Amino acid sequence: MEKVSDISLHVLTSDDFDDVMQLMRRTFYAREVVTNVVGCSDDVMDAMTTAVIQNDLENGVCFGLRDLKTKKLIAVKICSILTRDTHHPLEPVKPETFKQKAILAVAQSVPPPESLFDDPNIEKILYGRFSNVDPDYTRRGLSNILHEACERAGIEKGCQVFYSQVGDKALLGNMINKGCHVLQSTKINEISLDGQPVIPKSDSSDFSISALVKILIPGTYKFKSSL
Ligand SMILES: CC(C)(COP(=O)(O)OP(=O)(O)OC[C@H]1O[C@@H](n2cnc3c(N)ncnc32)[C@H](O)[C@@H]1OP(=O)(O)O)[C@@H](O)C(=O)NCCC(=O)NCCS
Repeated sequence: MEKVSDISLHVLTSDDFDDVMQLMRRTFYAREVVTNVVGCSDDVMDAMTTAVIQNDLENGVCFGLRDLKTKKLIAVKICSILTRDTHHPLEPVKPETFKQKAILAVAQSVPPPESLFDDPNIEKILYGRFSNVDPDYTRRGLSNILHEACERAGIEKGCQVFYSQVGDKALLGNMINKGCHVLQSTKINEISLDGQPVIPKSDSSDFSISALVKILIPGTYKFKSSL
């Protein structure tokens, strides 16, 4: 485990794109629960995430931490801002292979972020897409620091609610402690695509995907499932 003496927090911009992708390729895909359960390779995930990340780095709500001693990017949180008129959360993703479609089927098995626009009072959503902390730097609260920075920036930009999808159970508990509510959880081994399960039926794992929301700007909002 690396010793972190000093870290610096930054808004990520397109200048950080190469560093962000390097961190994602080196440390994200091999560890993220849904990617692993569906059996996606790094290539599959890279094809799905590159354009999304490129877009998101323009919006001022993505944050990163650098180790000041090594200058290395050690953690990132990538978020999008969705607005009622311009939301296209999965548009940059062009699924081709079964595994790519399977990942999207998992994401679409719970209410998607744009379902929050069913409430006419919701105009802007902060959509948390990826959190990634270098494994040498985990369990020291770094993802919490990034989450708080993203929330603050989202609120400043008028995002009324935060939305995210989470597969990891420990992380789900942590997000609930941060004030998130579960809209819906779906067991991944019950999801199928073109009549085929997205993970082998023999896989008895009880991994779930959960859609979460948190109110950022006080107001009365209606969500599809009861909170
Ligand atoms: C999930 C992840 C971002 C957490 O980063 P982190 O900096 O270690 O998280 P923090 O130290 O801020 O911990 C936050 C809390 O999350 C929970 N948690 C996170 N990872 C955990 C783990 N592996 N086991 C148990 N609890 C965990 C704990 O409740 C922890 O709080 P605690 O240490 O006070 O108990 C990091 O492990 C990671 O990058 N994982 C791979 C990618 C991924 O799955 N991202 C999430 C989906 S986009």
